[in-house]
Amino acid sequence: MNSKRVVAVRRLKPWHLDRLQERFHVDYFEEPDHDPMAYREALHKAHGLIGGKLQVSPGTLDDAPHLEAVATISVGYDNLPVDEMNRRGIVLTNTPDVLTETTADTGFLLLMATARRLVELTDFVRQGHWTQHVSEAQFGHDVHGKTLGLVGMGRIGQAIARRALGFGMQVRYTHASPKPEFESRWGVERRDCETLLGESDFVCLTVPLTPQTEYLIGADQLRCMKPSSILINIARGRVVDEAALVHALKEGVIAGAGLDVYEREPLPADSPLPRMSNVVALPHVGSATFETRDAMARCAVDNLCQALDGEKPHDLVNAEAWALRQGHGSLAT
Ligand code: DGY
Repeated sequence: MNSKRVVAVRRLKPWHLDRLQERFHVDYFEEPDHDPMAYREALHKAHGLIGGKLQVSPGTLDDAPHLEAVATISVGYDNLPVDEMNRRGIVLTNTPDVLTETTADTGFLLLMATARRLVELTDFVRQGHWTQHVSEAQFGHDVHGKTLGLVGMGRIGQAIARRALGFGMQVRYTHASPKPEFESRWGVERRDCETLLGESDFVCLTVPLTPQTEYLIGADQLRCMKPSSILINIARGRVVDEAALVHALKEGVIAGAGLDVYEREPLPADSPLPRMSNVVALPHVGSATFETRDAMARCAVDNLCQALDGEKPHDLVNAEAWALRQGHGSLAT
């Protein structure tokens, strides 16, 4: 065991902790809020921090003067102060790739479930309302033959596109840069955001949350969509103006929404969204399968071990901090 110390938070099973404990002194907190003093003390001595749903502010970094690396068990890192970590030379890693297919499954699940009203209709059967042959009141909408507009064409966007093509859909996308290889291989076409919103029967959001994508979809963008269209959000809640979305769903500006992410999570009890019949609402389970969460934790452990051993981690997010640690620049104190 070397003398470095690691604070581990949530999403780590005993076999992941064993791997860390073979190398480092590990303090594990399933829920840091349950013992904030002990958590703070452990962070004060830590060289590494690993976990899911990490809450790290610049103040947290002040409390962790020895911190060298943070390994988030997620692909998204919008909850972490990357600029501040860069300044201090704290390496950040995430877990892309291993969750791509599962998160794409979640997106397609929401698309199918919303189009065919899965939740509403299973409730209809469960509550004993199926007493005669179904009528148009229970009809849904076709998925095959329709147009899917992907906002974001990264790994997850591409995995959803492949599913959609298998279902006989046309696929359009909007992305900061064109993806010519993907276009020629799969026959998908790039559009500007407004055209994409207007052409699509299903709009699926897969962009990371950044200052550029925050509230990308508001009242004006929802008005560009067809009244028969469905919005799917597996990105981050704050990519959508939720009040504008609720209004659009109530007023028939769009037909429905399949949501995995929300402006506030867990969703506040007074949110109208889960009670709306044209909404399928999941509790942010994009990557939440046994297999994928295990793979994500394994990947984060690998990344943290590499970073603390001074090796360039496989899933390095902030090359700037890595360069500082390699002596190319001076660390903030
Ligand atoms: C991620 O990995 O960012 C997903 O949203 C799951 O937390």
